[in-house]
Amino acid sequence: MNFELSETQTLIRDTARKFAREVLAPRAQKTDREEIFPLDAYRQMGELGLLGVNVPAEYGGAEAGVLSYSLAVIELAAACASTSVGMCVTNMCAELICQFGTVEQKKRYVTKLTSGEAIAGAFALSEPHAGSDPGAGNTTAAKKGDRWVINGTKQWITSGAYAGVIVVWARTSSEGNKGLSCFLVGKGAEGLTCGRAEDKMGLRGSNTVPLIFENVEVGEDQLLGRLGDGFKLAMVALDGGRVGIASQACGVGRAAIEASVRYVKDRHAFGQAIGEFQALRFMLADMTTQQQTAELLTFRAASMKEKKVPFTREASMAKLFASEMSNKVCDRAVQLHGGYGYIDEFPVERYLRDARVQTIYEGTSEIQRIVIAREVIKAAG
Ligand code: CAA
Repeated sequence: MNFELSETQTLIRDTARKFAREVLAPRAQKTDREEIFPLDAYRQMGELGLLGVNVPAEYGGAEAGVLSYSLAVIELAAACASTSVGMCVTNMCAELICQFGTVEQKKRYVTKLTSGEAIAGAFALSEPHAGSDPGAGNTTAAKKGDRWVINGTKQWITSGAYAGVIVVWARTSSEGNKGLSCFLVGKGAEGLTCGRAEDKMGLRGSNTVPLIFENVEVGEDQLLGRLGDGFKLAMVALDGGRVGIASQACGVGRAAIEASVRYVKDRHAFGQAIGEFQALRFMLADMTTQQQTAELLTFRAASMKEKKVPFTREASMAKLFASEMSNKVCDRAVQLHGGYGYIDEFPVERYLRDARVQTIYEGTSEIQRIVIAREVIKAAG
């Protein structure tokens, strides 16, 4: 076991940290309050290699591995969680196409994602009635000559209004999970529209829309992976995606602790800094221990993915623990700030709102427990 970062990992972390602190953090509050999707930040992330951290260099990626990716997400999330989720989904789409795409598809779509030309990638799996159970989706892709015609509505699509590359799941046969296939759709495809952006509790600088497919035609060369393998592709992508969301949770939790430390040193009550009170010190101790534990779980899952060993259970454990940690830690941070935690003069109210969705998206905590328990029982033989 090695707890030291490599040169590459240090470089990616420091690059992400500098960008996050200099570009994202100063305007994170405005991004949130005014629901600004920061187009320029995505272009800069492309230039810095942050939209394809674990993508081969031949497709424009940084080829820096999964641990580097996790470190980068933590840095971005600590500054602006809204931007970090768009980064996560873009990396997830690029990696999925690299893993299952043809050389042509990688050249056509991945390079657009990693460079920032596409702005972002979108992962169009969920539907209004099918979130935890994607196998119940009923968006269809019907064969018409040598083309596929997609019809249906996708829901909760991160960056959906801006994404230049959309990975979309559609039913190509009626066989439940085995009837799903995966397609690649470019921005501006005829028949593709996006609905009203959701007015969310948190992550307000991230764009979340329904995507409506009305007779959207795609060629055979836009089928990603094999016909009927869509469900498995989604599961593989989500295993990696969960490492991303766990990292995001670690970043938001870390930011909440840093803000709390600043506050308890500065704020005085009863003749001393409130950080002198044992009650608050114990809170900080627990918050820090939980956040660091979440990082360890997340880095273990990242490093297993990097070594290409099965990591489904570890990704779900990291996502479950880290997302629940960030909710607890951000709640405690608001408590430590007293009345000031409840207003937007301090960032902790935003952290708490941003953390809330982490136990819901990319698989709820309840789904993670199902996955973990299944893997534990399977491993016992
Ligand atoms: N890797 C590879 N294959 C996998 C897999 C994995 N992790 N998990 C399952 N599979 C395979 C199984 O081996 C099985 O294959 P066979 O049919 O060949 O045996 C097939 O997939 C079906 O598996 P299950 O029987 O386990 O499927 P299930 O219907 O019982 O569902 C589930 C399992 C884990 C609950 C799954 O439905 C799930 O993960 N649901 C949550 C979905 C989710 O996370 N949605 C989030 C939306 S995306 C999002 O939020 C993005 C964003 O914008 C931030």
